[in-house]
Amino acid sequence: MRQAAAEQSTAVESVRDYLAAQERKSLLRFLTCGSVDDGKSTLIGRLLSETRQIFEDQLAALERDSKKHGTTGDDVDFALLVDGLEAEREQGITIDVAYRFFSTPKRKFIVADTPGHEQYTRNMATGASTADLAIVLVDARQGVVQQTRRHSIIASLLGIRHVVVAVNKIDLVGFDRQAFDSIVADYAAFAQGLNFASIVAIPMSARYGDNVSTRSERMPWYAGPTLVDHLETVVVDDAAVGLPFRFPVQYVNRPNLDFRGYAGTVASGSVAAGEEVVVAKSGKTARVKRIVSQGGDLASAVAGQAITLVLDGELDISRGNMLVSPDARPQVADQFAANIVWFDENALKPGRSYLLRTETDQVSATVTDLKHRLNINNFAQEAAKSLEMNEVGVCNLATQSPIAFDPFADNRTTGAFILIDRISNATVGAGMILHGLRRAENIHWQALDIGKRERGLAKNQRPAVFWFTGLSGSGKSTIANLLEKKLHASGRHTYILDGDNVRHGLNRDLGFTDADRVENIRRVAEVARLMADAGLIVIVSFISPFRAERRMARELMEKGEFVEVFVDTPFEECAKRDPKGLYARALSGALKNFTGVDSPYEAPENPEIHLRTVGKAPEEMVDIVENWLHERDIEQEQYDAGDGI
Ligand code: ADX
Repeated sequence: MRQAAAEQSTAVESVRDYLAAQERKSLLRFLTCGSVDDGKSTLIGRLLSETRQIFEDQLAALERDSKKHGTTGDDVDFALLVDGLEAEREQGITIDVAYRFFSTPKRKFIVADTPGHEQYTRNMATGASTADLAIVLVDARQGVVQQTRRHSIIASLLGIRHVVVAVNKIDLVGFDRQAFDSIVADYAAFAQGLNFASIVAIPMSARYGDNVSTRSERMPWYAGPTLVDHLETVVVDDAAVGLPFRFPVQYVNRPNLDFRGYAGTVASGSVAAGEEVVVAKSGKTARVKRIVSQGGDLASAVAGQAITLVLDGELDISRGNMLVSPDARPQVADQFAANIVWFDENALKPGRSYLLRTETDQVSATVTDLKHRLNINNFAQEAAKSLEMNEVGVCNLATQSPIAFDPFADNRTTGAFILIDRISNATVGAGMILHGLRRAENIHWQALDIGKRERGLAKNQRPAVFWFTGLSGSGKSTIANLLEKKLHASGRHTYILDGDNVRHGLNRDLGFTDADRVENIRRVAEVARLMADAGLIVIVSFISPFRAERRMARELMEKGEFVEVFVDTPFEECAKRDPKGLYARALSGALKNFTGVDSPYEAPENPEIHLRTVGKAPEEMVDIVENWLHERDIEQEQYDAGDGI
């Protein structure tokens, strides 16, 4: 009896030991990158299979599928294990990031399988953002190619310090040592500037399993580790735990009046009950009363843990703010320099407003200056006006309100952000902050005693911005001019900003590329804002072809102040009128980048006033605007009266 009990308890202990050992095993996150057909999926499939993570039934299904779609005859096609999507199989490319988990007796692994197709830098960046190591696949027959360089640069920018150069398909060059050596030399020469802590090159055949987890007998000249050996032993320090405490607040948890907690995941460092913390943006301090987690209260918490902090004081902390260590605070600024990787087909345009999202914060941001673009072949810094898809550059950015951050080199979580297109909602770029801009620290908003309201009252009017948009020759200037005459006659204080005129002075340096038009509108919107602040009724008459910039202009003004007037004259009609002869020149090819011909016009979707001009006299159009203004004034009077003002 006693012996049986003893045996049982040893068994329990060994299960416990085993589970504890599993718990303690370190975790390596890595990603694979390479160009199409380098064999990434095959490699991951083999890694999973050889680490015995494929369940029997998956294997059976795989055998069936291999017969249907496979490219390896009757052998199991490992790529099919990984390329989950039917669509991908048919196209033969991988189109999304897939995370796979596997483990060996020594370590646990999470691998981000990122697509190799030219367009999918976005996914690669997604996978790379948390990875410790990158496996860069190189086809032994092709050597180091453009994509190898691009992916390596992006991996380095995203803070990955360890690289494995997997020289794959070595069987197809006869297991040739020279082929391997020359690829290794090429890569080493290229990667010198990339600041990797380790680069290990391994000759392998993912398809046949050489040097993946078992040492290949077909390359006796290779004395280095197999891929799995290396992945199991490479030393990557878990830097986040050793960094200063950073806790981006995800949301304020207030289930009832007695409880108020700040929920989120510790981004770096650690925190203990009783310790002092600081609100990054306001500098206010409080003490941690409780650290609440799913399993109950904790005495302390470290990077990676999801917790709710209860503080001893009532502080104003909302989503997007950070609780931080009082001894090492992050920077708080609205201007900073950053590396940007651009993903989108529409190029990054300085001056355009994007949404900038950090771990938990979200603000409007513009690139104020594209300092240079990085040439991925020789690291040269090239002058550029915009960043095209897959390009990398250094930019200055300005946000509408300050954000809290650390330089990316110090903290991969609080130093990173993404940019989102405001119209399509797509993630268009990833950013890694270099440093705050000193000039932002030294410029403060000056409070003035006389404000817009006083200036407007003195003129007996409510300031407004009438934003006329439409094709060249649509009649914007004619209608704007007539409108101003009438407003002026009725005692209003007005000013017209006209595209052709402003381009003679303030915007003399700008042409008609997309990038220049963005800057053209940014400047005129800022001027219109100043004029509205001066109490004027401003009439802006610019083609302003892009929705994004018209929206930016709207957001610069106060609510209700911006009135979008769409002067809707069809292209054919404008081309027929052609008051300046520009349509004839553009259509014959003599004038480039002409709106409606070889440069786009994005019509307003919801203008306050829509003027359909065909068959109508300009005076009739002005009447519509005047009526609109009149009605708004009546509404305003009623509102003011109701409000008791
Ligand atoms: S915008 O697109 O940047 O808003 P803006 O209103 O300033 O244009 O200037 C448009 C005026 O510039 C047109 O009315 C026309 O007289 C002149 N122009 C000269 N070249 C072009 C061009 N390539 N495209 C459009 N307008 C042009």
